[in-house]
Amino acid sequence: MTIRKIAQIGHPVLREVAREVTPDELASPAIQTFIDDLIETMRDANGAGLAATQVYETIQICAIEVGDNPRYPYKPKIPLTILVNPKIEHLTDETFDNYEGCLSVPNLRGMVKRTARIRLTALDRHGAPIDAEFAGFTAGTIQHEVDHLFGKIFVDRVTDPTTFATWAEFDRHHKPKFLESVGAIVDKYHRA
Ligand code: NI
Repeated sequence: MTIRKIAQIGHPVLREVAREVTPDELASPAIQTFIDDLIETMRDANGAGLAATQVYETIQICAIEVGDNPRYPYKPKIPLTILVNPKIEHLTDETFDNYEGCLSVPNLRGMVKRTARIRLTALDRHGAPIDAEFAGFTAGTIQHEVDHLFGKIFVDRVTDPTTFATWAEFDRHHKPKFLESVGAIVDKYHRA
């Protein structure tokens, strides 16, 4: 496995729309090795997710995993998930405020409104269908990664630019207020 270089904002590859992967391609050793690299690169960078376009491959594959993540300690856990050719259906007009960051946008966070409940259809890395509903931060993480596959970066969705903050200034000036809202979001969407 190889840790890949992560494209940084301004590189045109991050604005490309990735193409769908065929079942034959997905089964190929080249793509399976690529998926292993994507996972290793995401984990090495402490990402909650990583999309193929972020490592210069314009194919519709992304990885998501939230464990004990030092970048996002408040996010509910998500087991390692590979999404191939993902499609999102928005199940509500309801949104929540998510203070996002991105491995392709060094040292910047900003407030994004994300749809609170989504339906996700995709294939897993073995070509098996995924069809499930997600809410709250998990829905937000999925929307962020799928956006990458369609050339969108979270900064495009920041409606109030005064929320932009470096990670240090986020900790100093924005974190206490955001963490207050986190509890409510977790209670609302992440408790059965
Ligand atoms: Ni990102």
